[in-house]
Amino acid sequence: MRTHTLIMPLDMHLHLRDGAMLEAIAPLSSYSFSGAVIMPNLVPPITNKQSLEAYKSRIRSATNRRINDDDSDEFELMDMDYFEPLMTLFYQNYSREFLEDICDDIFAIKLYPAGITTNSDGGVESFEIEQMRETLEAMSELSIPLLVHGESDGFVMDREAEFMSIYEMLALSFPDLKIVMEHITTKAAVQMLDRYKNLYATITVHHLLITLDDVAGAALQPHLFCKPIAKRPEDREALREVALNAHPKVMFGSDSAPHPQHAKESCGCAAGVFTAPIALQLLCEIFDSEDKLDNLQAFVSDNAQSIHGLCPEFKEVTLKQEPFKVPESYSLVVPMYANRSIAWSIEDVL
Ligand code: DOR
Ligand code: ZN
Repeated sequence: MRTHTLIMPLDMHLHLRDGAMLEAIAPLSSYSFSGAVIMPNLVPPITNKQSLEAYKSRIRSATNRRINDDDSDEFELMDMDYFEPLMTLFYQNYSREFLEDICDDIFAIKLYPAGITTNSDGGVESFEIEQMRETLEAMSELSIPLLVHGESDGFVMDREAEFMSIYEMLALSFPDLKIVMEHITTKAAVQMLDRYKNLYATITVHHLLITLDDVAGAALQPHLFCKPIAKRPEDREALREVALNAHPKVMFGSDSAPHPQHAKESCGCAAGVFTAPIALQLLCEIFDSEDKLDNLQAFVSDNAQSIHGLCPEFKEVTLKQEPFKVPESYSLVVPMYANRSIAWSIEDVL
């Protein structure tokens, strides 16, 4: 049987939520990833040191629980830092003093335009550069990356493309600020990568697989509905081109975003696709089907390590080309491709 081993996979964009949801789903990521960039869009969002540290410690106890609950020696040997939560703050205009004090505790700051997606009401109302200058200059000098949910409030299919002018303005005004275009979905965003040296991107696994047709072309598929919404076939092609060829400025970020089944299968369906437990298997299937498995390591870890200077916890994940039936649900959260069979499964994690 064919196998493929990935070293220290990283999920550079992950929603873990809080409370019972955090406890239920965090172990699914800490099982197969060395670390993940944790999104701050809780209610209320993470905007200060106290809530950041408290959230990080809740994540640590949720991810260690699996280790402690497991009787096997293998898991008992794993230490506290087996899965590294890379913490982010929710963007607001912060003072330089505040950022100097918190910079060692955070990986990055995540910017949401106000109201554009789940729990983003406290986001940025206006991209007036002078209002943001103090914060962005301080972030640049303190080497704090800016992660951006890049969507305008225009027509839903055009939102990401319309945001490109804001990326350009940010990239040019703050040339030393590392800016990550999160979960890109368009050819327009892919084309920005080679235009500005300080722009990078994350790409999800679902946007490598689906287009709007899969979401709404036949019976509506709530579990494939997310922001930004999946776009056209040519956009998906552009994403596949850079991901499968391991473009050095793109990184895997699942944007795995769990919502309870009732919030997805309802009028006013919440945005978010839950992929954390199947992401590596799906990526193997995609990269293998295009004969690009050798590039997967760069996409799921090496690029992120070089871009951000990360040294992840050691973890070795071996996948095998054996069908895996995606469960119907994981603790009341329905995953992408529930009940479907995918071509690769996880054989072992060391
Ligand atoms: O679909 C999404 N869900 N997009 C986001 O940007 C946020 C996320 C969530 O938090 O559920
Ligand atoms: Zn997200």
